[in-house]
Amino acid sequence: MCGIVGFIGQKDSKEILLKGLEKLEYRGYDSAGIAVMNDEGVHVFKEKGRIATLREAVDQRLFATAGIGHTRWATHGVPSKVNAHPHQATSERFTLVHNGVIENYTQLKDEYLQNVELKSDTDTEVVVQVLEQFVKQGLEVEEAFRKTLSLLKGSYAIAMLDEQNSETIYVAKNKSPLLVGLGDTFNVVASDAMAMLQVTDQYIELMDKEIVIVKKESVTIKNLAGETINRDPYTAELDASDIEKGTYPHYMLKEIDEQPLVMRKIVQEYQSDNGTLTIDPCIVEAMKGADRIYIIAAGTSYHAGLVGKQFIEKMAHIPVEVHISSEFSYNMPLLSEKPLFIFISQSGETADSRAVLVHVKEMGHKAITITNVPGSTLSREADYTLLLHAGPEIAVASTKAYTAQLAVLAILAYVTAESKGIMVGMDLVKELGIIANSMEALCDDKEVMEAIAWEYFTTTRNCFFIGRAMDFFVGLEGALKLKEISYIQAEGFAGGELKHGTIALIEEGTPVIALATQEHVNLSIRGNVKEVVARGAHPCIISMKGLETEEDRYVLPAVNEMLTPLISVIPLQLISYYAALHRDCDVDKPRNLAKSVTVE
Ligand code: M6R
Repeated sequence: MCGIVGFIGQKDSKEILLKGLEKLEYRGYDSAGIAVMNDEGVHVFKEKGRIATLREAVDQRLFATAGIGHTRWATHGVPSKVNAHPHQATSERFTLVHNGVIENYTQLKDEYLQNVELKSDTDTEVVVQVLEQFVKQGLEVEEAFRKTLSLLKGSYAIAMLDEQNSETIYVAKNKSPLLVGLGDTFNVVASDAMAMLQVTDQYIELMDKEIVIVKKESVTIKNLAGETINRDPYTAELDASDIEKGTYPHYMLKEIDEQPLVMRKIVQEYQSDNGTLTIDPCIVEAMKGADRIYIIAAGTSYHAGLVGKQFIEKMAHIPVEVHISSEFSYNMPLLSEKPLFIFISQSGETADSRAVLVHVKEMGHKAITITNVPGSTLSREADYTLLLHAGPEIAVASTKAYTAQLAVLAILAYVTAESKGIMVGMDLVKELGIIANSMEALCDDKEVMEAIAWEYFTTTRNCFFIGRAMDFFVGLEGALKLKEISYIQAEGFAGGELKHGTIALIEEGTPVIALATQEHVNLSIRGNVKEVVARGAHPCIISMKGLETEEDRYVLPAVNEMLTPLISVIPLQLISYYAALHRDCDVDKPRNLAKSVTVE
């Protein structure tokens, strides 16, 4: 979702800001802009569409040592040049970029801006206009900034320029991620360290309701009361090469191929010196002390949660409920006496999940976050964190983070079971090794997946994924992958549920991808395939070695039956990738989607 960058120092800021915005492209956006400041004033450039279009619009002759930039994912007002950030107050003295949602912007408009003509439909413009009113009433800029922030309800990450003070960027944050980066003769602002890794790897995390006065040689953090806060920087442990595509045409393909490596890395990270799997004892104790676990997640992470429930219940014998984060607050279940919450989130920034975390912490419950991003909001605010160690995931469609989530959930369940003295009946280190090798074999079979994509998805407008038991959950993920990047309407169903309604949609040639990796339901799912074939469906059965029949289109290598989701998802990821490619879709940045969904 929206991204922010800022730079102040002795270099020209234009290119640094544009490069930073390019690094944030993966988050999803529909317009972009920068504002740069020099002795002549503030110059704003913004465009609807890609950064490349913005780049063309920027006056390359300008030299400016301070600036802010933004990628916008529309929430208030259509994607357009007018609604793109930065936004300026009427006098053009103040220029501001903002991520998040100001929930009370209409009230603010009614109360403070009755005589001000707004140029855009955004909640953001209201913020900068209100601030200007306070300055006009005689407040110092910093005081006006603080007063404006104290009126805002909702979420914000803000960077602001004042034309009369070319030495300062004003920064603030509440519920939306924002970092300040430190350099020798400059300082930067970024909603993601990745954006400014080009100039620094030293960052300071900001907490909610803090403001920061960023100058080229100093960074001063204050709370809304104006008191100064001291905080040490940390080193962003990101390798710049991790965020490059290398020779791959798309990040998604690179990330699919990285999955075997990620499996090995996870085993390494969670292995103790004696080779056994290990997890922070506090986390294991929290698991053992819970009478019920509540998994909270969205999208792909929710699908991982559904599989994780099976791992935890089957291995560690603790009951688990899995909830979609955006629904939890309205449909909150009656909690057990000793609940434990597990938040699964690749980005660690999903606003829907964060809202639940804030709520359950207020209720006094313990929470674990499973995330790919150390230092992310969900990680900081939970009691414990389990990292995915998958490396940056840039493509909007989640692939390696999903399989990493499954592996970490399996390790969590396994270590908890061992600590409870339960015999799980498998050596998980060995099984994950087999999984990594099988993933490699699957990634080597890309031509087969491409051929399937051609055969099934060149012209179809819809597709169904069916499965039973574990395969049902993987089918849901397969359907999400296909729809989000190829725009084919795709739905996942439990094999047995089809005849209760959905089978009415099966027509001549409708693709039905059926997963058949679970021995105890193998005959039943094959029965479901026969039912759809009898109504004209074009079936594609993906089975597992040992369960295969002649009608199967692809046979997966044999792995431990409980762990099949770790490999059965890979053909579905690849098929979706090729389907999107053949349909000329923007694979890494699908329309309307954002990588990090930071608004509720
Ligand atoms: O960062 P998170 O895991 O919390 O994100 C949740 C969903 O937004 C995410 O999984 C989304 O569904 C992906 N684009 C799916 O590929």
